[in-house]
Amino acid sequence: MPVVIVVGVQWGDEGKGKVVDYLTEKAKLVVRFQGGNNAGHTVIVEGKKTALRSIPSGILRPDCRCLLAAGVVLDPEAILSEIADLEVSGVDVSPARLGIAPEISLILPYSRAVDRERERVLADNKIGTTGKGIGPTYEDTVSRSAIKVGDLFSDAVLKTKLEFNVRSKNNYLRSVLGAEEQFDLEEMFQQCKRYADRLKPYVCNVSLEVNRAIEAKELVVFEGAQGTLLDVTHGTYPFVTSSNTIAGYACVSAGFGPRLVDTVLGISKAYCTRVGSGPFPTEDRGTVGETLRSVGKEFGVVTGRPRRCGWFDAVVARRAARLNGIDTLIVTKLDVLSGFETVKLGVAYELDGKQIEDLPTQPSDIERVKVIYETLPGWNADLTAVQSFEQLPLQAKNLLKRIEEVVACRVGGFSVGPDRAQTVLMCEQLRDYSGL
Ligand code: IMP
Repeated sequence: MPVVIVVGVQWGDEGKGKVVDYLTEKAKLVVRFQGGNNAGHTVIVEGKKTALRSIPSGILRPDCRCLLAAGVVLDPEAILSEIADLEVSGVDVSPARLGIAPEISLILPYSRAVDRERERVLADNKIGTTGKGIGPTYEDTVSRSAIKVGDLFSDAVLKTKLEFNVRSKNNYLRSVLGAEEQFDLEEMFQQCKRYADRLKPYVCNVSLEVNRAIEAKELVVFEGAQGTLLDVTHGTYPFVTSSNTIAGYACVSAGFGPRLVDTVLGISKAYCTRVGSGPFPTEDRGTVGETLRSVGKEFGVVTGRPRRCGWFDAVVARRAARLNGIDTLIVTKLDVLSGFETVKLGVAYELDGKQIEDLPTQPSDIERVKVIYETLPGWNADLTAVQSFEQLPLQAKNLLKRIEEVVACRVGGFSVGPDRAQTVLMCEQLRDYSGL
């Protein structure tokens, strides 16, 4: 059984959680490898909706164990309430089902305050973060001051690290950001002790578990969060998240070697969306964008913000295929395009009169590119009950085939609605992973 990495091709919200859930019938492990509760997956099984933030969507499969790897950032308050919510819905989230790496950096209340206040100070230049404290926590990781999950279990280490952090964050909030909010050391210490008791049973050696499962030839699925264009190194910097979202980071975060990866699945909507600020070449601020937003229910799961919408961008998808080594694309939300007389694909860019192969690196240049579109005939039929490629209208088949050509990557499946049963896998290999 293979090692599969699932990544988003665009700016997040492509439907990764749903596809991972679908693929995990046979999986032994599902591993989240980056980001935190800035992600929001909605998985619908038999009409029942579950919103997930930090916990991988494999949690909805009783035989699947979920792990949070070292490169994730974790808000203890948020994960404890996510566990409680899942348990109320009857999902078992005992330590047999969920493991947390001790190397994970903690998002604490001061991280959220710094995130929010910095955005306020940036005003018109803000990134449009989710305000969950993700960026400040990754900063602490690199500056070697982060409080790790493992630190919660030693009072002496916790106190020393908290002392430094509370003092420096209070100072930064007050003196640099001009904020009033301040944090109390003793209060934070007591809060962390409460988290320690609740989180301790979940702590495990993720790298060992992952490597053993791979050695035992189990199916191990790595679930990415956000999308390729939000990668801190290769995305539309500075309008990105603070972690590496691309497939290579699964190895770094979960502690296994790149030679062990078999398949990288790229998940892409049949159109494009983005939340927060930053360049988005195919964005449509007119009626097309509005229709995609309302038909596709394009509002953030975490923040409720309306998502910016536009046509599929093959330049973005080709970049994602290259950066991640994607061998198979799954195109989600194909049903949302029903009713458009014509559908468009952005196939190339022009900058200063010259055709260019890839996104420019400077945001101001990306803002200036002219997208070259291809227009294809649309369709009117409702796709939501479609169960195979053959049942699609000719125009929808042609769109998928054209996406395959312009991205130069096999389309291995598509989805026509939010329910688990509305995902169609076309290639044998993926059907085998999903146990169908
Ligand atoms: P942060 O990850 O909260 O720091 O936000 C940085 C950027 O990433 C902002 O543009 C957010 O809107 C975006 N972002 C973060 N998480 C997600 C996600 O799960 N889906 C889509 N965009 C996201």
